[in-house]
Amino acid sequence: MSIRTPESTAHVSYPPPKEFSASAHIKSLDEYRRLYDRSIKDPEGFWGEVATDCHFFKKWDRVVKWNLPDAQWFVGGQTNISYNCLDLQIERGRGDHTAILWEGEPCDDRGEPREIRRISYRELHREVCRFANGLTALGVRKGDRVTLYMPMVPELAIAMLACARIGAPHSVIFGGFSSQAILDRVQDAESHYIVTADGGWRRGSIVPLKANVDEACNMTDLVKKVVVLRRCENEVTMKDGRDVWWHDAVKGASDQCPAEPLDAEHMLFLLYTSGSTGKPKGILHTTAGYMVYTMYTAKLIFDLKPDDVYWCTADIGWITGHSYIVYGPLQNGVTTVMYEGAPNHPAWDRFWAMIARHKVTKFYTAPTAIRAFMKQGTEWPARHDLSSLKLLGTVGEPINPAAWEWYHHNIGHEKCPIVDTWWQTETGGALITPLPGATPTKPGSATLPFFGIDPAIVTKDGGEQKGAASGLLVIRKPWPGMLRGIYGDPERFRKQYWSEMPGVYFTGDGARRDEDGYYWITGRVDDVIKVAGHRLGTAEVESALVSNPKVAEAAVVGFPDDLTGEAIAAFVTLKGGVKPDESIKDELKKHVSSHLGAIARPKDIRFTDALPKTRSGKIMRRLLRELATKGRVEGDTTTLEDFTTIAKLRDDDA
Ligand code: PRX
Repeated sequence: MSIRTPESTAHVSYPPPKEFSASAHIKSLDEYRRLYDRSIKDPEGFWGEVATDCHFFKKWDRVVKWNLPDAQWFVGGQTNISYNCLDLQIERGRGDHTAILWEGEPCDDRGEPREIRRISYRELHREVCRFANGLTALGVRKGDRVTLYMPMVPELAIAMLACARIGAPHSVIFGGFSSQAILDRVQDAESHYIVTADGGWRRGSIVPLKANVDEACNMTDLVKKVVVLRRCENEVTMKDGRDVWWHDAVKGASDQCPAEPLDAEHMLFLLYTSGSTGKPKGILHTTAGYMVYTMYTAKLIFDLKPDDVYWCTADIGWITGHSYIVYGPLQNGVTTVMYEGAPNHPAWDRFWAMIARHKVTKFYTAPTAIRAFMKQGTEWPARHDLSSLKLLGTVGEPINPAAWEWYHHNIGHEKCPIVDTWWQTETGGALITPLPGATPTKPGSATLPFFGIDPAIVTKDGGEQKGAASGLLVIRKPWPGMLRGIYGDPERFRKQYWSEMPGVYFTGDGARRDEDGYYWITGRVDDVIKVAGHRLGTAEVESALVSNPKVAEAAVVGFPDDLTGEAIAAFVTLKGGVKPDESIKDELKKHVSSHLGAIARPKDIRFTDALPKTRSGKIMRRLLRELATKGRVEGDTTTLEDFTTIAKLRDDDA
């Protein structure tokens, strides 16, 4: 485990704009501090009060039960998040308000989108009920895990809300993943049902989602039914008895489907993410705690108001899309924008054109996207009227101050607060983040903990560091949105998050806290790499590499990249008799892409006769990281088995 410290400690501070604070939910740093103190001293009172904004069929008996590592929230209560996103909003008079505003990717010759859909809360309710009834008719029952492998179309949100309505946990798989990833996740979740589409549009091409599902289904008998949405009108093969068109599944289905009252701790969804082993883990979230936490964080962090047109550009295949495209915004009754395709299709101003077209008020994206836009120049955003924007946000990876400043000047025109939100698939919602009307921001810092979040900085041995310090980031108290487990693997859950530093949640991130108590996330300290904000395990990429018959052994590390934050370098030992050359590098890059998806493609592949290992056989990743980053190795190498390996790696590099 290595701890990286941020290079620069110099920083400027931007106070929240006065007009913004005046009408914000949380108006000042004092107000934040008062509420924060209360949330830490009396979490039960605090969260119990917050939860009264949600609808429960049956009120809880107890707000939290904490039996490390197992937390239960709103114990004894019964609720349904689909009810809270739909029925409750209609009861509050939001029925005719646009819930989802969607743009498809394809454009006409003038660059105008061919398809825009505006779906009101009432219409969304109707479609969710019809699909929920359709799923039930196909045999889906409460507790059944339903796999969703879909493009970014409203039907993905409809399918999630339909699953939640009947208590069938969903497992969304990012549309950029391959058939192998589908197979692994379907098998791990023991999922008998898949919902997919004939394809989705991405950068002018069709992503063959159904064909990938077919390939995965050929390798397992688990899947009983596949529902297929017609999106691209391309040819797909429908298997008799197994495959059903979405439009047939909902034909004649009633548009009434009362939401099932579910126990507070009923499993809401699984979302697979990478850890430090080759096997992705199914992060398990439950109903009431996740619901309350996403409702409240979305409301305060994006300062949501009834007329907001809020756009989070993430893919719903990631946690950001779950919490802050679907569940958080809909529980707040606002319009959530969804876009199907690539940020540079048909040109590099697609996002800015969309903001102007729909008068987007709150915009949330990833630092990698901002850096990509920066590279294209300010003329792209300058062509569009961005004056509707009131707030900007970032998520997924550290943002470098230069990108923050660019965003602030060229997109926010210096009037929008920026919320740099730090969180994880496991945390359900943002944990360290500015509150836009209260927190002065410092470019590059995620600032201060959200209500109820009790972070600490510790040393490798678990010793707490007070005041300004660097080290490992842990969270000491449970919070409602936290994961409840790794599906089917309680031991891994305990080991991964609760044993590294006994008694506290270990985030896997390094952080620095400055003299103002602000947190600066320095990145992962485990074997997880963040490429363009996407999370990948080194072991997953390594096992993809060694599944190629030419490869004997492989080690993968992350190294800094100007655009994607980190990129992947792979050190590969080929089998005897295989001659290393450029064509093998290309072959291996393609091999990894086809196994895991394009995001896992190594940027750099280096051949070596052997990998540097410690005497106990552990690959010395620190050395490889240094080689990949600096092209040379410094520091202590005395535990190396074979120094010549390092020398060879260096020579190859020269
Ligand atoms: O390293 C941190 C980084 O992303 C990791 C979590 O990845 P994932 O589960 O895919 O969730 C991403 C979206 C919530 C964290 O351990 N990370 C996330 N947000 C930030 C960040 N690093 C720095 N600053 C952030 N704002």
